[in-house]
Amino acid sequence: MQTRVIRIEAHNPDTIAIQNAADVIRAGGLVAFPTETVYGLGADAFRADAVRGIFAAKGRPTSDPLIIHLQETAQLDNVAYSIPPLAHALAEAFWPGPLTLVLPRHPRVPPEVTAGRETVAVRVPAHPVAHQLLLAAAVPIAAPSANRFSRPSPTTAQHVLDDLEGLIDLVLDAGPVNIGLESTIVDVTQTPPAILRPGGLSLEALRVVAPDIVVRDRYLHTEIAAIAPGMFLKHYAPRAELRLFEGEREAVLAHMRTLSEAGVGILATDEDAEGFADVETAVERLGPEAEVEVVGRRLFAGLRALDQRGVRVILVRLPAREGLWLAIRDRLYRAAEGRVTRVTA
Ligand code: TXA
Ligand code: MG
Repeated sequence: MQTRVIRIEAHNPDTIAIQNAADVIRAGGLVAFPTETVYGLGADAFRADAVRGIFAAKGRPTSDPLIIHLQETAQLDNVAYSIPPLAHALAEAFWPGPLTLVLPRHPRVPPEVTAGRETVAVRVPAHPVAHQLLLAAAVPIAAPSANRFSRPSPTTAQHVLDDLEGLIDLVLDAGPVNIGLESTIVDVTQTPPAILRPGGLSLEALRVVAPDIVVRDRYLHTEIAAIAPGMFLKHYAPRAELRLFEGEREAVLAHMRTLSEAGVGILATDEDAEGFADVETAVERLGPEAEVEVVGRRLFAGLRALDQRGVRVILVRLPAREGLWLAIRDRLYRAAEGRVTRVTA
């Protein structure tokens, strides 16, 4: 299959390009498109055959359910069977945006989308290209991140092509995405509501609307990681082995320096990267520590860049849990399959 690439302006998407992409979706094809979080690989959510194509292209296990993207909140009734008041409040506060809600599944949603579950994950993306595509296609679009299974999510069209060229019909290239981390997934079928995956919307922001919200993400606890690395589903991973280090900043950086040599890569904030200027490692800078949005945006690209530089091992100092750092920490844990070293001074 030949994968077509259409360049499109993020803030003023060309109508003909959008119509082209919508036609592919309506014909049961696969279109990679930008969202504000990461690039998604979209298909008509109501066509089981098209949805099966997503799993095939990604090499993704069919047991891992997809997120349905809607153009607007009013369409929620088409895919969710019932909508708890909290879902309305969260949608009102955060849609369009990087929030996914898990709701009771509407019977017309094919079981392929939800991996046979009685719940469905739904979000309204904020990217103008995603919005226009949903409008033109006039169907809900099921879309996971547009990467091969277990690879870092794509934040540029080139990342999509690196993983999926020849396997999908079309890529809408609107340049790098804004957030660079996937949406926060909140299950509102449980009481209290639970964050299943931290992401582009922070826990602190969610608490304003849902004060009793809990974090269920099992990947966030180093203690568990140390005991049972095997329980980690490999996800977001570079090809190189990723190793995480935790502890007092100076001690961690000093330890990482002792491991630095040719063939080793460092992924670090600008401040941390200073300490590696004189060693023979490949260093990818994530941006200033004070600008977590920049760091989040560059995380997956940094992992992919180090892979391209051919390193065997990537060393990263684990960040704190506040705000967007929680999602960054989660992605690092998963990519490292729980390999965390605690450094003591
Ligand atoms: O930001 C995002 O969420 C991006 C963009 C493209 O929208 N999408 C994304 O999709 O990250 P994906 O497939 O890579 O991750 C979706 C995850 C699944 O791995 C699964 O953990 C969770 O959403 N999920 C989907 N349906 C679910 C359900 N019914 N119950 C619980 N979790 C669900
Ligand atoms: Mg994904």
